[in-house]
Amino acid sequence: MNIIIIQGSARSDGNTHKVSKELQILLNCDLIDLNKKNIGHFDYEYNNQDDDFPPLIEKIANEYDVIIFTSPVYWYTMSGRTKVFFDRISDVIRINKETGRKLRGKYMGAVSCGYGSDPIEGFFLPFQKSAAYLGLNYIGDIHSWVQTEKLDQEVKKRIQKFAEKIKELK
Ligand SMILES: Cc1cc2nc3c(=O)[nH]c(=O)nc-3n(C[C@H](O)[C@H](O)[C@H](O)COP(=O)(O)O)c2cc1C
Repeated sequence: MNIIIIQGSARSDGNTHKVSKELQILLNCDLIDLNKKNIGHFDYEYNNQDDDFPPLIEKIANEYDVIIFTSPVYWYTMSGRTKVFFDRISDVIRINKETGRKLRGKYMGAVSCGYGSDPIEGFFLPFQKSAAYLGLNYIGDIHSWVQTEKLDQEVKKRIQKFAEKIKELK
């Protein structure tokens, strides 16, 4: 299984990266940092097809079987970068449909990263619903948090368990 982590933090080396990195090492997989990509907001006239989204979604559609979103909790929901990425998936439903069709049947999961250990109610609903709409198999999610330099033992345990589940996919 080819696995890709899509990191949606507003900083490349922040808390979400700590969590993403831990998962990436366990899965020995690729990671895309949306903070380093130039991805414009969805445009009804598609005047942004020369930004980084079209080649990125094509690469994901062609090369990966499992897509894991890692997003910080910003204002009780996914980060803006992650949301813009989802909005732009509309491009491959409306135009570049062949790429959109290739997403069907892949696996999708999600990881939230907040400050506190309490999960954010409803955080994962857009991930679950979007996966269903796009024909992706939703494999689950975990909430994580970062308060100190080192990852909390409980967070490490959750990431390990999640990685095991992903590794079992066929
Ligand atoms: C713009 C912004 C909004 C945030 N909103 C929330 C929130 O609604 N709930 C929460 O628990 N933490 C919130 N936080 C804290 C972050 O979720 C937390 O510090 C997270 O670990 C940051 O990850 P990052 O370093 O990848 O940005 C917010 C932080 C920022 C910068």
